Amino acid sequence: MNDAQTVPPKFKILFDTDPGIDDAMALLLALVSPEIEVVGVTTVFGNSHVEATTRNALNLLNLAGRPDIPVAKGADRPMVRPRGQTGEFVHGDDAMGNIGWTAVHNPDQKPLDIPAAQFIVETVMARPGEITLVAVGPLTNVGLALQLEPRIAQAARNVVIMGGSVATPGNVSPVAEANIHNDPHAAALVFGAGWDVTMAGLDVTMAVRMDEAFFAALRRSGNRLAQFIGRIAPFYQQFHRERYGYPDGGVDTHDPTAIAYLIAPTLFRAERWSVAVPLDGPAMGATIADRRGLFWPGPKVNCLMGADAPRVLEMFRVRLTA
Ligand code: RIB
Ligand code: CA
Repeated sequence: MNDAQTVPPKFKILFDTDPGIDDAMALLLALVSPEIEVVGVTTVFGNSHVEATTRNALNLLNLAGRPDIPVAKGADRPMVRPRGQTGEFVHGDDAMGNIGWTAVHNPDQKPLDIPAAQFIVETVMARPGEITLVAVGPLTNVGLALQLEPRIAQAARNVVIMGGSVATPGNVSPVAEANIHNDPHAAALVFGAGWDVTMAGLDVTMAVRMDEAFFAALRRSGNRLAQFIGRIAPFYQQFHRERYGYPDGGVDTHDPTAIAYLIAPTLFRAERWSVAVPLDGPAMGATIADRRGLFWPGPKVNCLMGADAPRVLEMFRVRLTA
């Protein structure tokens, strides 16, 4: 047997993100995972405005020793609607837990001179069947990329998003999750494009909870990336304590769970349903799944409905502290 037969191919991921504390955890997890090659990062508004999320993406890559990974700055507002409230109240004024990130640390790092949507199109079309789009912010860049070049729906290997919810109440409205609510038009395009989409929504991301014992273990480890996560976590922990009354310094593990699914899909239970997104009104941004499979013939979304939370958390801990 040659190497091609014995070594499984890496996931080549294009990581679309609004960093963000949990985005930072997800990106660092991807960067330390041998199954994953991060071929580029695209940024979007969400947890802050796009200048801040782009700065954070550049600094995270620099921190991880990967300033070579290209970053393309993306949308600062949704495709159709006006931008709603950005997420500094969850992630801090710098969207990184108030650690004082105000500038790009490495002067050699610059975003590409093309916008994120174009970078997505060029990257996907250059490597048909190879690229996994992992989108953990509002889906604006991916929606714009679909408009620019609809053939990316056939050329991408698959899409994994953190967003939405099938059976769990929303986190920005009674029924909507933040990433979908921030740009429902983009989400509707992504769900309807006919590609292989997996939705890691609140049904799993609120079921996997990091807590103070977890973060303390990261801080104690000799690993500098783990220690960084331990440093940015307190603001996020305080938000979860005040908003949801979570005990023991617990937080939802949103964006890292999308990466966990790529690495270990058998730790998750999925159901395939057509998903519709209301574009306005009180249900705006909800992800309504046709769970009887009777009513909507459209493309099916692979909805993650359950997770083996202890094993997912253990995987995070082992990888981040290795
Ligand atoms: O609802 C959780 C999502 O909103 C996460 O992606 C978080 O980073 C924010 O963007
Ligand atoms: Ca995010």
